[in-house]
Amino acid sequence: MLKIAVLVSGGGSNLQSIIDNIESGYLNCSIEVVISDKKDAYGIDRAKAKNIKTYILDRKQYGKSMSAEILKILDGKVDLIVLAGFLSILQGELLSAFKGKIINIHPALIPSFCGGGMYGLKVHEKAIEYGVKVSGCTVHFVDEGTDSGPIIIQKVVDVFSTDTAKDLQLRILEQEHKALPEAIKYISEGKIRIEGRKVLVI
Ligand code: GAR
Repeated sequence: MLKIAVLVSGGGSNLQSIIDNIESGYLNCSIEVVISDKKDAYGIDRAKAKNIKTYILDRKQYGKSMSAEILKILDGKVDLIVLAGFLSILQGELLSAFKGKIINIHPALIPSFCGGGMYGLKVHEKAIEYGVKVSGCTVHFVDEGTDSGPIIIQKVVDVFSTDTAKDLQLRILEQEHKALPEAIKYISEGKIRIEGRKVLVI
């Protein structure tokens, strides 16, 4: 069974979608640990409610040593790291130790509205400001860049002229809650092959 770690910074609705999909039997994997870089992240409460082991690595306290600390906790313990709204940037040895074994969900269609500083409502404000007619979410492998690794799944939603950033965020979140479990399922079933920038589902 695939052992995963889920990293969160906020509400943890994506974490919840993984938990729900494990409980429904859609996903054959176990969440070994949840790590947050914010002490008041509601995602931690969601994990505790399911008796999942939790760690809080406060961003202000750990700063640049965050990735090394995560590696200490996860090395040899999990097969996959899932960034579910985790806002610290991972770097260094953690990335090489878990090469091809870290995935992230981003609330836009990469390569649009992504990269440094693009998270939360800001992503949707920029998409609306630009006037795009569709947006969506992207699940991708994590590499040394920000939101730059090979794309596993994208899901598209319409953008309406009356949309606020919050409206768009909620419409996209619904798709995130499908896309992330789907990507984890492919990985757990060994169906993913990475060829350069392309991810093949076989
Ligand atoms: C999600 O929309 C996720 O795509 C986004 O943070 C939100 C977390 O929601 N991630 C980023 O913006 C990363 N750049 P959640 O805590 O309810 O899962």
